[in-house]
Amino acid sequence: MTNIKTKVSKVIQAKTMPDKPDLKYLFEPRSIALIGASHHEDKIGYKILGNIVSSKYPGKIYPINPDGGEILGQKVYKTIDEIKGEIDLVTIVIPAQYVFDAVKSCSNKGVKFLSIITSGFSEIGNSQQEKEIVNYANEHGMRVLGPNIFGIYSARAPVNATFGPPDIKSGSVAILTQSGALGIAMIGKTRVENIGLSSIISIGNKSDIDESDLLEYLVMDDATKVIMMYIEGVKNGERFVRILKQITPKKPVIVIKSGRSKKGATAAASHTGSLAGDDNIFSDIMKQCGVIRAESIQEAIDWSKYLALSNPPKGENSIIITNGGGIGVLATDACEKYNVTLYDDLETMKKIFSDAVPEFGSMKNPIDLTGQAKFEDYQRSLNAAFNDDDIHSVICLGCEAAALDTEKLFTFIEEAISNSKPIKPIVLSFFGGARTEKEIAFYKPRNIPVFSDVYEAVSCLGTLYKNYRNLQYRVDTIDQPASAETKSDTVLIENIINKVRLDKRNFLFSYEGMEIMKMAGIAVPRTGLAHNIEEAIRCAEEIKYPVVMKIVSRDILHKSDAGGVVLHLDNKEEVIDAYQAIIHNCRRYNPYARIEGIEVSEMAASGTETIIGARRDGSFGPIVMFGLGGIYVEVMKDVAFRAFPFSRKEANNMVSQIKSYPLLLGVRGEKRKDIDGIIDVIVKVGEILYEHKDISDIEVNPLITYEEGKGVKAIDARIILTRLNESQFGQAKTEEEK
Ligand SMILES: Nc1ncnc2c1ncn2[C@@H]1O[C@H](COP(=O)(O)OP(=O)(O)O)[C@@H](O)[C@H]1O
Ligand SMILES: [Mg+2]
Repeated sequence: MTNIKTKVSKVIQAKTMPDKPDLKYLFEPRSIALIGASHHEDKIGYKILGNIVSSKYPGKIYPINPDGGEILGQKVYKTIDEIKGEIDLVTIVIPAQYVFDAVKSCSNKGVKFLSIITSGFSEIGNSQQEKEIVNYANEHGMRVLGPNIFGIYSARAPVNATFGPPDIKSGSVAILTQSGALGIAMIGKTRVENIGLSSIISIGNKSDIDESDLLEYLVMDDATKVIMMYIEGVKNGERFVRILKQITPKKPVIVIKSGRSKKGATAAASHTGSLAGDDNIFSDIMKQCGVIRAESIQEAIDWSKYLALSNPPKGENSIIITNGGGIGVLATDACEKYNVTLYDDLETMKKIFSDAVPEFGSMKNPIDLTGQAKFEDYQRSLNAAFNDDDIHSVICLGCEAAALDTEKLFTFIEEAISNSKPIKPIVLSFFGGARTEKEIAFYKPRNIPVFSDVYEAVSCLGTLYKNYRNLQYRVDTIDQPASAETKSDTVLIENIINKVRLDKRNFLFSYEGMEIMKMAGIAVPRTGLAHNIEEAIRCAEEIKYPVVMKIVSRDILHKSDAGGVVLHLDNKEEVIDAYQAIIHNCRRYNPYARIEGIEVSEMAASGTETIIGARRDGSFGPIVMFGLGGIYVEVMKDVAFRAFPFSRKEANNMVSQIKSYPLLLGVRGEKRKDIDGIIDVIVKVGEILYEHKDISDIEVNPLITYEEGKGVKAIDARIILTRLNESQFGQAKTEEEK
């Protein structure tokens, strides 16, 4: 019934809503109006007009101000109605209380996009008006960027419709930022670092246009080679994940997300009004999507610049060339941290470098030219590395030394890079005093990837390789669950859920949870439900000893906490004792607990206990968790998350990501555990949650895992339903009565 209703309302909505305008007109508007253009030089409304004009925007510019006149040589219109012709983009910079009227005035002008710079909306709790503005705009075929933003710069137009710095260099990095102030600072920073931008856009409160919308444009935009995002919170995570999965096999996405620390999360949440979410979940899901996460803005900027400027590598073999052993070892450690593969074919290296490396040097990677190395030694080794097909990337290091003319070296590299013949990816790290620092400061903005810190240099190369692997092997691209035949019996599962709803519970008894597991094809112990001692004995004898017994009560969710689980029962007498003990313990634990009965199940053989969970996350929708189970799971927090749906391969990545993974591979002569069995359950549990919108949480704990080929067994399944309000409970009943 309800389904039909929502479908009908969706159809009606689709009819009344005009088509969304093409995002092309936000990035390449043919005309721009500025509501709130100002005659005063210190006003934002003046600055934006100045930026539009000085960015050599070729389209039509319509400044609007009731006083009319002229600003910066541009004719000012008193109202939008005076403007003839259509307007693609309207930038609004008037105080919040006048914004809605201004938006209304745009509805007859064929306006496609509104860039609402003004703040004072949902970020300070004024969500109602923001919603009304967006609804009105959407109903009239307009989309809203912002509010609470600095605007948009797009190299394609070109146009700088921001109130940030005027001189933005055009190039191939696109920046999306949720924070306006930080975004403006980033423009300044990109200028200092000499990074070219294809666009920079602030999305602010994301009342309508969000990252996902902009990413859809940027993935198609040939001018954009690298996408960098600063985000504080994710609102429509399911769509975000889908789009990221499409982009990262094509171009790199680098993300900085604030709210990593608990304190940071609170600050971010109050800053934008959107929840920052759990950082581990965010981190893992970005990994799943092939997104590269930076810790700091500097890192994100360094990586974006390097990825935009460097040629892609042709293979994994990297070589370190150095004049100092110590710095070489540091770089080796950094390579391990950032997953850069050091070439180790000694024979080939001898052939390549025998003419280049001096007598006391080393031809083992790192290639050590010794402290006596002169520019010419570096030049010979670098040329040897550049010219050999077995070497795919170079890490060039140096400690300040009297013999070495670094300026010559940097100039040589600059020439090699600017040479029309594409050179291999290279990063440089030089360490020393004032002379070295001065040279680094001079050459870095000339687009030589030189850093004083080895880790910074190697992290850039590591990021290049991350992207290389994304492009080579693709990341998880699945965005639909597996085919119907592998799915569990949906109708039978629905029946159980309905029964629980009718019983006015929002969680399933463990035996009901186990029934669902069984329907999904997950192995579970044989189980029966007893209401008295005689039934318990009968169950135990049918199941065969040893058995376990567990309390079944709507008032006891954590059974062992209440003394409601007894294991290793080998005979009738033990069953009788256990029955009485469980009732006694649970009565003492909660005198008001309603006891439905006692579950008797087969005692499963011991194995490695794992935990598999799934729940509906506020940001990302269905997510799945895997970890090593048992009593320490809460303490160790050694778990991995993924957004569902995903492939078996991704489930395998998830399993191998946890720190205790070696335990599953088997340590000290133990056999490997049934990892395939675990993956099966991970995917099935994800599917159950995905398919049944009534379920909010599933936790299989423990899933006992046996040796490879011997399978896994779900011992306990806790399933929670989404909360219904009273009227919905009523509805469930009427459905049943029918
Ligand atoms: N059928 C069984 N076979 C083997 N061990 C079991 C069985 N049932 C429970 N256990 C053990 O007892 C622990 C607690 O039981 P469980 O059903 O998970 O209850 P709860 O999580 O509600 O306390 C499990 O983590 C597992 O180690
Ligand atoms: Mg349990």
